[in-house]
Amino acid sequence: MVLSALLTGLLSATLVGPLTTSAGAAAPDPTTATLRQLAAHTGMRVGTAVDTSALANDPQYRALVAAQFDTVTPENVMKWEVTEPQQGQYDFSQADTLVAFARAHGQKVRGHTLVWHSQLPAWVTSRDWTKAELRQVLKSHVQTEAAHFRGKIWAWDVVNEAFNDDGTLRDTLWLRVLGPGYIADAFRWAHQADPKAILFYNDYNIEGVNPKSDAVYSLLRQLRHQGVPVQGVGAQGHLDTQFPIPGDIVQNLRRFAALGLYSAITEADVRIPLPVDPTESAAQSAGYSAMLQGCLLVKRCISFTVWGFSDKYQWVPGVFPGEGSAALYDENFQPKPAYDQVRRDLALAPRGRARA
Ligand code: XIL
Repeated sequence: MVLSALLTGLLSATLVGPLTTSAGAAAPDPTTATLRQLAAHTGMRVGTAVDTSALANDPQYRALVAAQFDTVTPENVMKWEVTEPQQGQYDFSQADTLVAFARAHGQKVRGHTLVWHSQLPAWVTSRDWTKAELRQVLKSHVQTEAAHFRGKIWAWDVVNEAFNDDGTLRDTLWLRVLGPGYIADAFRWAHQADPKAILFYNDYNIEGVNPKSDAVYSLLRQLRHQGVPVQGVGAQGHLDTQFPIPGDIVQNLRRFAALGLYSAITEADVRIPLPVDPTESAAQSAGYSAMLQGCLLVKRCISFTVWGFSDKYQWVPGVFPGEGSAALYDENFQPKPAYDQVRRDLALAPRGRARA
């Protein structure tokens, strides 16, 4: 009697009811639940980059950030040109607003980014520096910013985009004046200033195994052996439907896990050469799904973040001529097929990890 009731219950759950996880608890319904509700049972966090002016001015945008995501990344306002526009004069006001929003909504913050070659203020780029001078400039910046947000940042993208696609180090001001040691220095300084933040190296085109991800792997292995405090690798995940989806994302993330590193998809979007047609749209869903499933299949992959969730505020059209429609929601905040795909992937994922 009891058994047959149980069996009937199980059967109906299988046929029409909510999905059950390996632990037996009902997972939320993938046709109605939010991304953060669906991610909760997986242990992996789901995040978005946030445009802070949209957050301030667009109530629909704000409501979706709060409802759908459990981590946020400032799209621009923690970058050097914003936080230290003049030497020694710091402005964290916009970033502080986002950190407060995240706190109010139970969200973690991914800090982005301390050391990068782009979006630097003119005072850094428009003069010559001696090695000693520039090292002090970088140290002050990294330590002051990381210390300002101490205890409030879940994960920091400490160094961003230091490699070329062929695996050589990118020719930046930092490399030219300081030499390759600037990378280890930045991680040490950030760790001193905020010992609890998870410190990431972040880059694009390192989702799969290729010369660039090989070079990042070699560097991070070396840094780990030297005791440098780097704890994660971020694969940005800027895909394009006209290029192949990397087939070896899981293999790639697993080799970083074997070094003791966390990983994350940090800036996922899948851009489309316009106009969009149904095949492009399906290819976009496949791109998002490949990255999300890759992360879900690797226990040490702790978060999946999209680089803007709506086409209303998205960086692709301004940077890639003729391309766009890269986000999960369209310009009217209507979810696209890719959004439904992400929900299904999250719902299927087993409980598999403790939350970092
Ligand atoms: C982009 C922002 O989305 C734009 O608003 C800004 O104009 C330029 O930077 N890789 C990164 C991000 O690490 O910081 C970049 O963000 C996108 C590529």
